[in-house]
This record gives sequence, C-alpha cells and structure tokens, in this order.
Amino acid sequence: MDKNVPSLAENEVENKFLDTFKILLAPLAGVSDMAFRVICQNLGADLTFVEMISAKALVMDSQKTLQMMERHPREDILGIQITGDGPEIIGKATQLLNKHNFDHLDLNMGCPVKKVVKTGCGSALIRDPDLVYKVTKAAVDESKVPVSVKIRLGWDENSKNFLEVGDAVEKAGAVWLTVHGRTRSARYDVPVDLGAFDKLKKTLSIPVIGNGNIFNKSDLDLMIDRSNVDGAMVSRGALGNPWIFTSLKNTQFKLDIETWFSVVEEHLQLQKDVYKSESAGVICFRKHLLWYLKGWSQTRQTKERLIQITKYDELLDLIKNFVDFQISQPSSRAFRSIKENIESSRNFI
Ligand SMILES: Cc1cc2nc3c(=O)[nH]c(=O)nc-3n(C[C@H](O)[C@H](O)[C@H](O)COP(=O)(O)O)c2cc1C
Repeated sequence: MDKNVPSLAENEVENKFLDTFKILLAPLAGVSDMAFRVICQNLGADLTFVEMISAKALVMDSQKTLQMMERHPREDILGIQITGDGPEIIGKATQLLNKHNFDHLDLNMGCPVKKVVKTGCGSALIRDPDLVYKVTKAAVDESKVPVSVKIRLGWDENSKNFLEVGDAVEKAGAVWLTVHGRTRSARYDVPVDLGAFDKLKKTLSIPVIGNGNIFNKSDLDLMIDRSNVDGAMVSRGALGNPWIFTSLKNTQFKLDIETWFSVVEEHLQLQKDVYKSESAGVICFRKHLLWYLKGWSQTRQTKERLIQITKYDELLDLIKNFVDFQISQPSSRAFRSIKENIESSRNFI
C-alpha cells in the first residue's frame, strides 16, 4: 500500500473510505489470523479484521485474546471486531482497544452461534433495536477510531427488523453498516436477500456494505446492480482463494500453479510468525491447504498425507510434490476450472 495514502482513521475523519467501492475480508473466527490477513491484503483486500473478540474476555485481560490481537508489520490497515451484551462492557472494551493499534472497530451483532447468542452477544442484540443503539453509542463515544456494525436481517423470517436496526446504528453514530443478507436462523442454503440491501441503501444515509455469497465477479456485479451497495465483504469466498480479491478487481486475472505455489508457500511461512509452536501452526495450516486444494485435480493422495503431518518442512515438501505433479500433467497445468466458478452458488433473491 502507498504509504502516502492516509490511514483509514484519518480518511474517515473526512468520511472518505467508502467514497470509492471497497472490498473487505470478513472477520473469520479461526481463519482471519495475521498470516491470512497479510495474504489477503497483499492480493487486494481493502480492509481486513481480527476475528470476533469477546468484549468480556478483553476486559478480563485474557492472554489468548491479546495474542489474537497482534498486528503484523506488513498490515498497513487493520480493523477489529468485538461483541458484548450491553453498553457498559462495550464501552470498557473500547477504552482498552484505544491502547492498541487498530484503524477501525466493528461491532458484531450477527453471530448466530448458540454459545454466543445465549450470553446476549452477537445476533441476540438485534432483537432489541434500542439496545443496538445504546451498544453502538457506547462504542462510538469511547472509540478513537471509526465504528461500524455488522448485522443480519433479523432474528428469523418473522422478525426481519433490519431497517429499524440500521436506523439505530446510524443514529448512534456508526460510520457504516455491514449486512449479512440472511436472518439469524437461516442456513447458508437460504438465498441472500439483495432486495434488503437495496431497501437499506434507500433508507440510510451511512454507507452499506453487502455480505453473503460472493464467490466471483458476477456475484459481486449482481449485488451492486441490484442494491447499489458501497462495498462488499467476502467471507467463505476467500477460504483457500485469497486471489478472489484480485479477480474481483481485475477480470483478466487467471490463477496458475506457479502463482498458487508462491502464495501457499508465503502463507505457510507467515504462519510460522503467528504460531509459537510448530505443530499448532501446521495443524492450523492443514485446513487452509485443504481449501487451497479445492479445484485442482488428483488431490486425494496429498490430502491423505496431510493429516499425518506436524512439521513445517514436511508440509512444504508435500506441497512442492503436489506442484511438481501438477506441472508434470499438461492437462492440469492450468487451473482445472476457475475456482470461483466451481464455488458459485448464485444463491440470491
Ligand atoms: C469460518 C467462519 C468464521 C466466521 N467468523 C465470523 C466472525 O468472527 N465475525 C463475523 O462477523 N462473521 C463471521 N462469520 C460469518 C461471515 O463473516 C459471513 O457473514 C457469512 O459467512 C456470510 O458470508 P458468505 O456467504 O460470503 O460466507 C464467519 C463465517 C465463517 C464461514
């Protein structure tokens, strides 16, 4: 990133970050660690986040939480996402965050996971727009960086209150709203409601970022066409495919095995920075490699070997052998099919 470009925080004093369309990597629990964020930013993600952190854990000084909040020197811009059950805990956590090096704060009001919701956090908050207002206001009042909120459309099909919740978020002073276009109770096979994004765009003054089912450029184009959102947040579409950020911006981009290898190798190297223990780092990388292997032919042997590996050098050898094999197969030298086309579900309404 050009060092002369103002930081997000400076930018947003004038509220300019979303003046041009932006593509964000979602906070992803168990995935968006330092290593993956650096990779995605390098390939074109305009903003990345530390995965959702519990405000309570932050206030209790949890060491694991503090470790998750570390920033890599190569991260030019970085957001963090927190969740809490009320204004008091969010206010306290925000004060603590002010001592750390983040450019943006996002409040999670969309997480559907039972153990989160039953503590009154995540999507439990959107059941009560008044509470949404208070929680957002507490963060806005305390934060030295701009605050946004990520929501779902509502608790379930019978309580789609996204307009009311969006209004509360805006009135409390958030700089933008990110919307996952499904309700809390909807699974991933339920279509993303682009009409809801459109309604929010027509109702709110703050920018709206659309989230859900972006796997390729045509998914993104459809979302923009139908809702005129100010930005898009990519989640599952980036798993094993950080090149999605390049291909969403440059339609000419084609992934070949050499590019694939250079990024996978770099990701593995970065993983060493994140994990102090070799086996923990390798075990964490295994899931990334399984995602990276999607779309390539003849991956069975590599996957079977992968489960037994706990050392970096062995893992790198396995990856190199896989690449040599792919190069030796003229038919599979080029990516069997563009990854994102395989993934695309075109699951929108
Ligand atoms: C592995 C995984 C971890 C996630 N972790 C978070 C998280 O920490 N914070 C958050 O706001 N959403 C999280 N989400 C939800 C996504 O950000 C996103 O809202 C959802 O997957 C819909 O987008 P998609 O259809 O593009 O995947 C997670 C999703 C996945 C698959």
